[in-house]
Amino acid sequence: MTNVAVIGSQWGDEGKGKVVDWLSERAQVVVRFQGGHNAGHTLVIDGVTYKLSLLPSGIVRPGKLSIIGNGVVIDPFALLDEIANVSKLGVEISPKNLRIAENAPLILPVHRRVDQVAEAIRGKGKIGTTGRGIGPAYEDKIARRAIRVCDLEDEDLLRDKLENLLVYHNALLKAADAAPMTVEEILKPLMEVAPKILPFVEPVWRLLDTARREGKRILFEGAQGAMLDVDHGTYPYVTSSNTLAGTATIGSGMGMGGIGYVLGITKAYTTRVGSGPFPTELMDDIGAKIGKIGHEFGTVTGRPRRCGWFDAVMVRQAVKICGINGIALTKVDILDGFDTIKICVGYKHGGKTYDYLPASMKIQAELEPVYEEMPGWQGITHGKKSWADLPAQAIKYIRRIEELIECQVALLSTSPKREDTILVRDPFID
Ligand code: GDP
Ligand code: IMO
Ligand code: MG
Repeated sequence: MTNVAVIGSQWGDEGKGKVVDWLSERAQVVVRFQGGHNAGHTLVIDGVTYKLSLLPSGIVRPGKLSIIGNGVVIDPFALLDEIANVSKLGVEISPKNLRIAENAPLILPVHRRVDQVAEAIRGKGKIGTTGRGIGPAYEDKIARRAIRVCDLEDEDLLRDKLENLLVYHNALLKAADAAPMTVEEILKPLMEVAPKILPFVEPVWRLLDTARREGKRILFEGAQGAMLDVDHGTYPYVTSSNTLAGTATIGSGMGMGGIGYVLGITKAYTTRVGSGPFPTELMDDIGAKIGKIGHEFGTVTGRPRRCGWFDAVMVRQAVKICGINGIALTKVDILDGFDTIKICVGYKHGGKTYDYLPASMKIQAELEPVYEEMPGWQGITHGKKSWADLPAQAIKYIRRIEELIECQVALLSTSPKREDTILVRDPFID
């Protein structure tokens, strides 16, 4: 039996939430380890849709412990709103089933403002961030001036730290002709929410150590995807955290060796929200059709997601850099009824062929995809619960993907619903 890290292998929105929810039936602990409320994870259970941003997807199952690790940037106001909204759907959330790392950095209102101003400064080169302050909050962490969850206990310390932090941010805001912020403007609301957050707080690395020694199964829930990783993704069009599986240990305090299996969540085609290179993007009717059938709209911002064919080069790279042991292939049902389907098997640029995604942003923007074409299938995969019920041609598509990405399918998801999931190889006992 092993612990499993679930991560996205593309540009996010692969269906991580659905898969974590499905797997969490057989886990006792679910941990978020990076990102913040830029994430939007959707679960569909018994006709009810849950949209989670900061809360781990294990929260909807009674008796599971959900942990927000130190690698997550936490907007305390957004967290309390989310707890209130999810509670309204009948989910009980208390310190019994939710714990927050004492050393997690906070997202403050000033980070949101700076995020928006920084995007305006970038102009045409804007990243298309979610505008939630994620980048500026991580910048403060690395610059060693972040306010962390544990600081909520001490008003004097908070005031000192806020003064220091605002020196930096107000300089930028003033230079950009945006309104600066005052210490009191941030301190007062923070002191109001502090008593509501603090009961959840503790050193979660110790909880994880105990869980591990007791033989409990732990699921690590990634946010975003490998191509949004700040080192390995399509930089600078990325998020501000490391999204690869290795972050699960650092972002939670679980030691190395605590994770035995990496499950890469992979959509059967490609989507992306925000700006940045996208070699297989379809700007035509087919792209629009995929977006429409796939309901490809951002959970967090409502923006339409850009859609394109499956990019096997990119996912193979994700398999290698994340150490993915098996993939969960999702949304194959969206391709039901297509006459032909294309898979990107290489890139061309300036007379050269690439079998990987080169790092240069200029080259990435100019890559031409090399496609392999396959016939589609006329039967349906939507809602199927058994491999034997899949159309033969759909199986051929899946097998070809496995070959190209050099990794096998462990799970197949055939609809948004929890129960429409086919287990091929069990990640917990692989
Ligand atoms: P995440 O950010 O990786 O958790 O993914 P999102 O929740 O943002 O986006 C995935 C969307 O696809 C959600 O609306 C899911 O309900 C839905 N979904 C997940 N798996 C499947 C699937 O196999 N088929 C279909 N049709 N929808 C799916
Ligand atoms: P989940 O967990 C898809 C994208 C944003 C933008 C870039 C940087 O639901 O898969 P940020 O606000 O993080 O500084 O924005 O990253 N982005 C996501 N795209 N899914 C996500 O999360 C994302 N989180 C951030 O659209 O392009
Ligand atoms: Mg999402």
